[in-house]
Amino acid sequence: MKFFIDTANLDQIKEAQELGVLDGVTTNPSLMAKEGITGKDNILKHYVDICNIVDGDVSAEVVATEFSEMVKEGEELAELHEQIVVKVPMIKDGVKALKYFSDNGIRTNCTLVFSPGQALLAAKAGATYVSPFLGRLDDISTDGLNLIAEIRLIYDNYDFDTQILAASIRHTMHVIDCAKLGADVMTGPLSSIDGLLKHPLTDIGLAKFLEDYKKGNS
Ligand code: E4P
Repeated sequence: MKFFIDTANLDQIKEAQELGVLDGVTTNPSLMAKEGITGKDNILKHYVDICNIVDGDVSAEVVATEFSEMVKEGEELAELHEQIVVKVPMIKDGVKALKYFSDNGIRTNCTLVFSPGQALLAAKAGATYVSPFLGRLDDISTDGLNLIAEIRLIYDNYDFDTQILAASIRHTMHVIDCAKLGADVMTGPLSSIDGLLKHPLTDIGLAKFLEDYKKGNS
């Protein structure tokens, strides 16, 4: 399972990269706005800054919603850095753009996916990644994890190459549940990765080991 961090915050990206288990970064226009990154030049520079911190894929989202504009914007994003993956929303022109990018060697992440049918379309259009937003489904009393399971089944039935990128992860149990369901990638906040570390018996056990070592070696 690949671990992506879902943020545009450079400090958090550095911290996750230093842990040594980071495989990539996902951003979206809301995350960029949260960091105060505005204006085309600043936005493009920020994507390059992120690519220079991490070794893996960096999703950069188009804001155009019309096919030819999406293509133009996506090509410009892809030109920025070889690690850039163009993030495209699941709308009709987005599906056309996914197919265009796939035919032209540009890697994509189909975002805002909330149903198995949308995920099937994204795979048919040749998306590199599909991003089902499980946390946002949970937010409206719908089982987000079930969507991951349904997409896994469909993709395995037909051997689609599209990777399932479990998105809108809110906490560590989401990460573990997605791993059990066979999601190829998860993207979440740094806290969802940090949570994997924690167990009170580890802390108690280490304290005891160090205490016993000191007794015999002081
Ligand atoms: C996916 O790539 C999105 O950026 C993200 O996971 C959305 O998460 P949210 O629902 O917590 O905003």
